[in-house]
This record gives sequence, C-alpha cells and structure tokens, in this order.
Amino acid sequence: MDKVDVPYKTLKDVDLQGKLVFIRVDFNVPTDDQGNITDDIRIRAALPTISYALDQGAKLVIASHRGRPKGKWIPELSMGLIKKRIERLLRREILFVDACVGEKVDEAKANLKERDVLLLENLRFYKEETDNDPAFAAELAKGIDVYVNDAFGTAHRKHASTYGIAQHLKVRVMGLLMEKEIAYFRKAMVNPSRPLAILLGGVKVSTKLGLIENLLKKADKVLIGGAMAFTFLKAMGFSTGASLVEEDMLGIAKEIMDEARSKKVAFYLPVDFVLTEEIDFSAPAVVVPYQEVPDGWKGVDIGPATIRLYEESLSNARTIVWNGPMGIFEMSRFKKGTVAMAKCLANSSALTIAGGGDTDVAIHKAGFTENFSYISTGGGAFLELMEKNTLPCLEVLEKKE
Ligand code: 3PG
Repeated sequence: MDKVDVPYKTLKDVDLQGKLVFIRVDFNVPTDDQGNITDDIRIRAALPTISYALDQGAKLVIASHRGRPKGKWIPELSMGLIKKRIERLLRREILFVDACVGEKVDEAKANLKERDVLLLENLRFYKEETDNDPAFAAELAKGIDVYVNDAFGTAHRKHASTYGIAQHLKVRVMGLLMEKEIAYFRKAMVNPSRPLAILLGGVKVSTKLGLIENLLKKADKVLIGGAMAFTFLKAMGFSTGASLVEEDMLGIAKEIMDEARSKKVAFYLPVDFVLTEEIDFSAPAVVVPYQEVPDGWKGVDIGPATIRLYEESLSNARTIVWNGPMGIFEMSRFKKGTVAMAKCLANSSALTIAGGGDTDVAIHKAGFTENFSYISTGGGAFLELMEKNTLPCLEVLEKKE
C-alpha cells in the first residue's frame, strides 16, 4: 500500500529512551475450554509496537482487558495465563503483577530497568476501568512518561485505560498497529481508488443501520448477503418463507434502497438462496431463485447464481471492504457463499480489507488470510470506525502538527 497520511503522532514521533511507557494493547484473545489460546493474532499484531519501544530503550508497562469480567476477579481471565505466550512471541522474559494499580504496581514500575516489560493484570477486574473512573485513570497514569494506545480492538470504548488516562498524561500517541488500522481505513474509505465496493453480510439490518447509511455516502456498489438480505426482499414485497426478517425494519430497508437509487449507488441483493427447513446437519437443502422462497423454508446461504453475479460485480472494483458472512458458514454445508466470496477477494487485484463480526474467522477458515490486503483486528471497533469515521479513543491522542 502507498503511504497514507495518518494525522496522529505515533510512538516513533517521541523520545522513548529511558522513559516509563504505558502501552494499552488489546490481548483479548480467544481460548478453548482448557484455557489454551486458539488465536494469538492480536498479540502478534502488537509486537511491532512493543519491539520498537524496547529497541528505543523504554521501560514498558503493558495492559489489556480479557473478556467482560465486570469488576470481578475471574481466574480464567487473568493476564498471567497468557504471559507465557507473550514471552514466547517477544522472545524475552517479562514481569507480571496481579494488579493494575496500588503499591505492588508502584514498586514494580519503580524497579523497571530499560528494556524491561511489566505486564499488568486484566484491567476489567476493576469495575473502575469500564466506568472510566477518574481516580483509577490517574492511578494507571502514575509515574508514566508516555502513553501509547495500540488497542485498536477496544478503541470504541471510553474506558479508563483507553480514554480517561489520557487526560493525566502530556505525551499521548498511537502505536503502530493502531496507525496501520487507521491507514487502511483511510485508504479504503476516505480516499479510495474507485470503484469502491462494500460486501456486507450478517443477520440484522438494525445493527448495521448507521453503517449502511454512511457507506451509501461513499461506496459505488453495496452487495448484500446473509440473513439481512431477507429484510430487504420482504420490504420489496417478496415472500421470504421462514427466513429471519426484521419486521420493524421494513420501512427503513425501503428507505435505504431508495437512498441508494437516488445516490446512484448500485445496490445488489442475492438472486438465489440455499434454503432448508431445519438448520441441522441432515435436513434437505434446496437452491431457489429469490422470487420463489416457499413457506416454511429459511435462507442459510447465498446461491450459485448470486456467487457468479457478485464475482462479476466485484471484478472491476479497485477497493473492496468486506464485513459479515454470506450465510451460516460455521456449518460446512452452508459455507459455500462465504468461502466463494473469500476466494473472490483473495484473488482480486483490488485493495481488499475485511473486518468486524466473524469475517476474519470466516476468511481464516477458508484459508485465505494471507491473500487479503488487510484484515482488521477489530470487531466492534472496525464497524464503529466504518460508521462514524472516527473512534472515541482517537480524540484523546496527539495530532500531528
Ligand atoms: C473485542 O474483542 O472486540 C475487543 O477486545 C473489545 O471487547 P469488548 O467488546 O468486550 O469491549
């Protein structure tokens, strides 16, 4: 990707040598029933920032949340459990204290030497974190010279460590992952090579309303997949069988389509579907055109004609942004549409960006992770950025002069 201007300072713009640097990361990694990390991409994604700061001779304090413990100390969500993985990826030993504030932490901070790393406990073991409590934020900031926010996945939350802390610190910059996320966003949505196509899947129109409205201001084409397609089809007067439809969104769905027409945005809906009567591993499934969905049957994937139509439509796009699966991709019999779209984007010469919801999981399962220009580490944060063009945590970081 050509260099894109991100109007915020990063840790490369400030002096880190010998400084006590607080890096807010998002190490909210998924684990299996035994607590083993099943995907460490978020830790890997923060390594450039951590390594850069260490190379500069900083003393590092790194902190993250895991899960939503709501102020309770839940041992399975301790940061201590992922310390080893961080050490392995960083190729160095790190220190850990089972607290985020208080005497133990003050002492550990004071004893840090250049190139030491201190990992704090799960920030959300303190209710004050999600309450954005000012006293807690001030404690987190105690003794810190430089604040670095590299937690893109949490950048839509106004929490003590992502927002409140900034008001106690003079030097507040973004990390390299945050910079990369914002750079790709700007490349795709602020100054895109056109045509700009958006592939949007998922279940509900209601959760993506603001997003769709913003996309209609920017995109040349919007291609809809997933169950949300049925709300649009029903709004057009077609029968949708037992498919998921948001009845209270029919009026809004119609307005969205009218707006697309008036803005001359090509708005695509699937032309055929895979339908089943029961969502299980053996119930019969059929492919039917969109006008012929029978009573009692529900849509579970886009059909082959839609796949061809969408491939064709995406073939001249110069920028493609994808959010949301095309069907129930978790079940192998209903994953074809999602896999086909992942493959289509993987083979495209356009700038291809994906994120939010389960999109990254779907791409990963389909085996195309390496073939995308960029896959965001954010879920809700990616969607909010796409919808609002900014994120609360960016407001408190220093801008470039
Ligand atoms: C995520 O997993 O999307 C981020 O870590 C944010 O988590 P949250 O939705 O619990 O704030």
